[in-house]
Amino acid sequence: MRALLLENIHPEANRLLEERSIEVSTARGAMDEDELIEALQGVDLLGIRSKTQLTARVFAETRLTAVGAFCIGTNQIDLDAASRAGTPVFNAPFSNTRSVVELAIAEIIAMARHLTDKNASLHAGVWDKSAKGSHEVRGRTLGIVGYGNIGSQLSVVAEALGMQVYFYDVVDKLALGNARRCDSLEELLSKVETVSLHVDGRPGNAGLFGAEQFDQMRPRSLFLNLCRGIVVDHEALRERLLSGHIAGAAVDVFPTEPKSAGDPFVSSLQGIPNVILTPHVGGSTEEAQIDIGRFVAGKLRDYAATGATVMSVNLPSVQIDDQVPHARILHLHRNVPGVLARLNTVLGNHQVNIDRQVLSTRGELGYVVTDVASPLPAPMIEELVALPETVRLTTIGC
Ligand SMILES: NC(=O)c1ccc[n+]([C@@H]2O[C@H](COP(=O)([O-])OP(=O)(O)OC[C@H]3O[C@@H](n4cnc5c(N)ncnc54)[C@H](O)[C@@H]3O)[C@@H](O)[C@H]2O)c1
Repeated sequence: MRALLLENIHPEANRLLEERSIEVSTARGAMDEDELIEALQGVDLLGIRSKTQLTARVFAETRLTAVGAFCIGTNQIDLDAASRAGTPVFNAPFSNTRSVVELAIAEIIAMARHLTDKNASLHAGVWDKSAKGSHEVRGRTLGIVGYGNIGSQLSVVAEALGMQVYFYDVVDKLALGNARRCDSLEELLSKVETVSLHVDGRPGNAGLFGAEQFDQMRPRSLFLNLCRGIVVDHEALRERLLSGHIAGAAVDVFPTEPKSAGDPFVSSLQGIPNVILTPHVGGSTEEAQIDIGRFVAGKLRDYAATGATVMSVNLPSVQIDDQVPHARILHLHRNVPGVLARLNTVLGNHQVNIDRQVLSTRGELGYVVTDVASPLPAPMIEELVALPETVRLTTIGC
């Protein structure tokens, strides 16, 4: 098997894949569609981070066994096209949660104390010793928009610092600790002095936060966006920062971001006091990168070795033993009545006895993993591939 890992994925991923005799090539940056399609010829496993766009054309013109998104978000991947191609996609939903939370906390304190401005002044030789405008975060209100993995953990750590937490989520989420749920974004914005965005990147969230929402924030509030660049209107934020309505902002994600480290970067938020700009590093710590590398490579390796799809973001989830007794058939099919019966009839007609069978379905797809105790006759495999419902058939063992 061959794997291609793009965008500077942690070497822990190479180690895990190479341990299973998978040949790994790496590239530091992202690739555009044409480059990618060319590079993927003969590649079975692909690892990307957030910059590589996996379009329907990429799936149609390659034959990927599995894709690993070595990050949290997967909206850079056309998941429907991946499913149609029978390619499972894995990500790392929890590996860098803590890193993002710690950066958000650091930035809330830094903005409340004007640390970046004081630091810049002192480097410029100006002794600006003053308490004016500097605040403790203890006792202050924090509003979290999006109470998922990151938002809910931020809630716990912020409470430990003595902050009062309010949150708003489109889904009814369990409030942790003393956090208070708000019924609308408007309600949340009216209650808090610091707003931190942690929503996912679904298309409906583009432009979620613009002039109207900034105007609903309390005067002199602080604002953080460490989720997705498209969620915030930066021109509207710039105007409110310059007018003083927003007292500070920390922005880690941008509507358009440079492709590679070292590329030039321009933003309308540059040069404004008490604005912390970071190059999408919320989740970028050594700890998170190691964990992501290990977690996603582990999923790719397990799928290649056993067919396990647990925590795949697009295919039905099947957990099955590492031990393949003699041979294993992985049959991904359209989820319509009678497929299992037809599959087993083909096996029976070829005198192939089933040791064990696990079926799982998800939406329009079904996935059945079948262990058999005898060799797999080639005509039987051909018949299974030819079943009208078959999306993809893979075998492990002989
Ligand atoms: N800056 C970074 O380096 C970095 C690192 C990791 C994750 N992220 C981003 O952080 C975000 C959150 O990650 P997560 O793991 O917590 O995701 P998650 O899916 O666990 O949580 C997202 C939450 O937002 C809620 N939500 C979605 N749209 C909403 C809306 N319009 N209003 C209110 N709530 C809404 C969802 O119901 C969900 O509870 C993602 O966008 C992810 O891409 C950024």
